[in-house]
Amino acid sequence: MDQQKKMIEGLRKSLQISVILNVVAVIALFFVVALRDTIGFPSWNPSSWWPEIAGPNPYEPAPRSEPDSNTLALARQLSVWIAPDINSIPESDSSELIKYGHALISKTAAYLGPKGQVMQITNGLNCQNCHLDAGTRPWGNNYGAVASTYPKFRERSGAIETIPKRVNDCLERSLNGQVLPEDNQELKAMVAYIEWLGKDVPKKEVPNGSGIYSVPFLSRAASPAKGKAVYDQKCASCHGNDGLGVAATDGTYTYPPLWGPESYNSGAGLFRLSRFAGYVKYNMPFGVTYQNPQLSDEECWDVAAYVNSQPRPSKDLSGDWPNLLGKPVDHPFGPYEDGFSEAQHKFGPFEPVRDKIKELKQAKAK
Ligand code: HEC
Ligand code: HEC
Repeated sequence: MDQQKKMIEGLRKSLQISVILNVVAVIALFFVVALRDTIGFPSWNPSSWWPEIAGPNPYEPAPRSEPDSNTLALARQLSVWIAPDINSIPESDSSELIKYGHALISKTAAYLGPKGQVMQITNGLNCQNCHLDAGTRPWGNNYGAVASTYPKFRERSGAIETIPKRVNDCLERSLNGQVLPEDNQELKAMVAYIEWLGKDVPKKEVPNGSGIYSVPFLSRAASPAKGKAVYDQKCASCHGNDGLGVAATDGTYTYPPLWGPESYNSGAGLFRLSRFAGYVKYNMPFGVTYQNPQLSDEECWDVAAYVNSQPRPSKDLSGDWPNLLGKPVDHPFGPYEDGFSEAQHKFGPFEPVRDKIKELKQAKAK
């Protein structure tokens, strides 16, 4: 009996001691937590508790990788076309015309748009919205190869096209507007500027970085549904959830529309998925360049599929592409000779279409 009592007494004591110890520990912990900044206790980021070691820190986002020296050397090797400096236009009889052409191409809407000072024949876009920095930016749909390659045969019209004709194409399609007569002063000025830009490029040469980059084909069809997610995240902040852009009060745009009544029409170059994807790859979201693109190839194709599935002005294209085998793989309107559907010509996959067209062309050549 006595022994039992002693045992219980002993147990009770040790229990009391452990309760007291626990209370002391909790109070101590409370002080450490509450006063950790004041007493300079090490930070609560566990990675800072041990000495810095080389290698990724799991508590920080991975740093953007810098191009290595091989990549840089390759970029230099593949040096892109550099446009002449607009301030270097010589003082001559033609210089005023060139400068006027530069102004028209940068601020088209102010001259030719819905409230244009000279006339009202376009939708409010500037040539520069699509031909960035007035047609001088590498891979920014620039005019580096225009003076050197025009006049040239174009499958779309089935005819030899001059520069004025090509400018009129964009007026009629990309700007959903009216063509200008050959002797029109504004047309002459834009052509003079484009010719001046390309004056140093040898005839027939297509300099690297001119025009629009060709994004490699996907092995699947481009997806408007996936593209909508890209659009909402990466484009809507400027071009609007409704794609209508942000209009200024003077008939010009702060952010140009990507669809709707004021956008390019169904006959425009950007209505082809490959052109849209290539433009976006190296130029959008606004601020990226060919050296630091932001979207993956897939995202470019998908966002192109989404935007080009939205409503926009249509153009009668019955006169286009007189040679059916000359249609690009991504021209979304039949008839075709290759047996593929309009849907596949619009969204892909394009590889089978390309191969079939090649095969048919070779057979015809024999
Ligand atoms: C909505 C976009 C857009 C607008 C606005 C636009 N263009 Fe274009 N332009 C294009 C696209 C796309 C191409 C075809 C590029 C390709 O196929 O590589 C093109 C091609 C051209 C070309 C031929 C380039 C070449 O290397 O063959 C010229 C010249 C041209 N545009 C001039 C103009 C002028 C001048 C204006 C304004 C009056 C204008 N464009 C407005 C999208 C546009
Ligand atoms: C930060 C604002 C901003 C974002 C984000 C942005 N853009 Fe743009 N975008 C512009 C501006 C500004 C222009 C006209 C550029 C100029 O005139 O120099 C433009 C022009 C364009 C054009 C040619 C003109 C037209 O209206 O057809 C297309 C196509 C385009 N953007 C597509 C996209 C797509 C697709 C995305 C998303 C991947 C995107 N943009 C994200 C600001 C933006």
